[in-house]
Amino acid sequence: MPTTILVGAQWGDEGKGKIIDVLMDRHDVVVRYAGGNNAGHTVKIGEEKFVLHLIPSGILRPGKVCVIGNGVVVDPIALVTELDGLLKQGIAVNRGLGAKLLLSETAHMVMPYHRLLDEHREIQKGKRKIGTTKRGIGPAYGDKAARTGLRVIDLLKPERFAEKLRMRIRENNEILRTFGVMPLSCAKILKEYLAAGKRLRSFIANTVVYLHEAIKAGKNVLFEGAQGTFLDIDHGTYPYVTSSNTTAGGACTGSGMPPNKVDKVVGVLKAYTTRVGGGPLPTENQMLGDLLHGLGREFGATTGRPRRIGWFDAVATRYAAMVNGIDDLAVTNLDGLDTLEHIRVCVAYKADGKTHEVLPNDPDVLARCKPVYEECEGWNTDLSAAKTWDDLPKKARNYLRKIAALTGAKLGMASVGPRREQTICVR
Ligand code: IMP
Repeated sequence: MPTTILVGAQWGDEGKGKIIDVLMDRHDVVVRYAGGNNAGHTVKIGEEKFVLHLIPSGILRPGKVCVIGNGVVVDPIALVTELDGLLKQGIAVNRGLGAKLLLSETAHMVMPYHRLLDEHREIQKGKRKIGTTKRGIGPAYGDKAARTGLRVIDLLKPERFAEKLRMRIRENNEILRTFGVMPLSCAKILKEYLAAGKRLRSFIANTVVYLHEAIKAGKNVLFEGAQGTFLDIDHGTYPYVTSSNTTAGGACTGSGMPPNKVDKVVGVLKAYTTRVGGGPLPTENQMLGDLLHGLGREFGATTGRPRRIGWFDAVATRYAAMVNGIDDLAVTNLDGLDTLEHIRVCVAYKADGKTHEVLPNDPDVLARCKPVYEECEGWNTDLSAAKTWDDLPKKARNYLRKIAALTGAKLGMASVGPRREQTICVR
């Protein structure tokens, strides 16, 4: 798998961090291409748990290079905090020549006014709020599109940065005033951002050129998606989405890799469905939610919020397979269904007397959709010790085959627990 794109095939939190960690065995370089520190990838190695927000999980593997691409929005203060946290856990990220981490100079930065705008726009939306992570992601991408953003490269020229920042603060303080927020101090932000810039300086690079050289030199590159297909700004359940292209196409624009260099797309999906924040989740089910929350599962890695939970939704995953061009599926959290006698799978939606086999784009229609279910037999067995396909009970294998067939992609991996070794490769 020389060049692989890995994407979430649902609403995020599919367990991508763990699959990326497993795939890193076969890749030399790992690239984040979208989102920001709204993401939270959890990786468990032995008894130690690592939660990463901006830095690709490849950082936990010796000898791998991690790239934060141009499509990511970077909060430099949060990035420094993350580097410090890794150091405390014994992971030193070396700098300069041979650095393990490269940060795109053209990535846009998340600024303090972005976080405040995110928070206050949500308050204003009231019942219709998106349920964002309040990390300032939407306003940061908004500035990028409006051509008023500040980029990582600006940190390298303090005078130019100070001048641009003054203009941005002036305008944003006016907007913040309308929300009743105290004006921000330009001097304070300048000091903090320049200090972070100093810390990050040796990681900042032209990552587009680096990636092309790496691919030319025969390195295997893994593009790590953040969030999921239905949080994509174009293909997701708008407006209940994030503000970037989380789907496979985003890997090209968000890194500078040309589309003809993509060899494989891996789609990660849970054996059921979850979503954090507002917006439609047609298969949402209270009983399943209570069961999984009762087991201490399905709380957000970034905000700690309980995730909303539903049955497996093949209408959604089929769409994800189409939009991303998914070759292989990695099904995670199969063990979450271990105690069930019967498991439901959504095969279509019904709304206004019509059957929908494709996710409707109209949010009002989608909100009215009721799932059409097929029932599968549960395996009612603890799967956590299963290591091979043959270790899985027949009913669990049947369930995996069914969801892969409904999604329309090949089953590549199944995961039965958070540890690396709890990953089954399907031949
Ligand atoms: P934002 O990305 O913070 O603007 O949030 C927009 C929507 O995307 C909200 O519903 C969030 O809960 C959701 N979201 C953002 N990042 C993640 C993630 O990493 N996992 C799951 N949902 C996310």
